[in-house]
Amino acid sequence: MKKDLLKITDLSCEDITHILDVADQLKYNQKHGIPHRLLEGKTLAMIFQKSSTRTRVSFDVGMFQLGGHAMFLSTADIQMGRGESIRDTARVLSRYCDGIMIRTYGQDEVEELAEYATIPVINGLTDYSHPCQVLADLMTIREHQKTLEGLHMCYIGDGNNMANSLVAGGLITGMKVTCATPKGYEPDPQILDFAKKYGDKFSWHEDVMEAARGADILVTDVWASMGQEEEREERARIFQGYQINEAVMQTANKGAIVLHCLPAHKGEEITEDVFEKYADCIFDEAENRLHAQKAVMAICMGETK
Ligand code: CP
Ligand code: NVA
Repeated sequence: MKKDLLKITDLSCEDITHILDVADQLKYNQKHGIPHRLLEGKTLAMIFQKSSTRTRVSFDVGMFQLGGHAMFLSTADIQMGRGESIRDTARVLSRYCDGIMIRTYGQDEVEELAEYATIPVINGLTDYSHPCQVLADLMTIREHQKTLEGLHMCYIGDGNNMANSLVAGGLITGMKVTCATPKGYEPDPQILDFAKKYGDKFSWHEDVMEAARGADILVTDVWASMGQEEEREERARIFQGYQINEAVMQTANKGAIVLHCLPAHKGEEITEDVFEKYADCIFDEAENRLHAQKAVMAICMGETK
């Protein structure tokens, strides 16, 4: 069966640990000039329905370093943007390429693409999930905190794609996860349902301080995601206080780290001071997109077990 990466809840703790182990090895190889052309001659099609800096660049550079080639396909330019169906696009790209990465709105679009493609499909962000980002986040946490199991991760902000994937990724890898969002902006009901299996390892809070107390990792993301531009002002009012700031950091554990998938809106979900204080960690997280995705591609598209 072909291997896809569609959402974090499809992965077991062993799967995630394995991806992170391969990612650590590839990072080491890259830093030490050790060749790792695991996808020699292979091509990745990258379909973008939304903007991107990190995802686009890290997949492109990652494919190059693995000996392959990545092709940027904006839906504004390909026939998909003029109504060619996902299933036909999947079948056509499968005849030319060795893998597809897609960034779009509906998770159902990614699932349909994967159903009709005969090559691996990797989710590069939907409104529901952002699995590649969360693999990079888990890799960064493991680098900085030396473990995942038993840590307390706290997410503050909108119950969006990042919240959904972090809650799932944290629970699967043995963390305690708390989440603070305004009422009505909780993570997706499917994720809340998934979290029920983990009992008191997961809790949702309306109060930020309650969620942050004793946390080892604090994570946030923008109040208005791509596609929600028109709600920006309304959200800015509703999300007041759902911010990582110095007071929140005082509530967290000593030695706590801060993550942000970027781009950040400083002064909204995170203060400029806290962002700069934890910038090394946040930019390690951005760098780790490259290494984590190289691992995903090597496993899904190559011979790496
Ligand atoms: N974090 C992330 O996915 O960034 P881009 O939108 O720049 O790809
Ligand atoms: N929640 C954000 C993440 C961007 C990487 C968005 O979907 O726009």
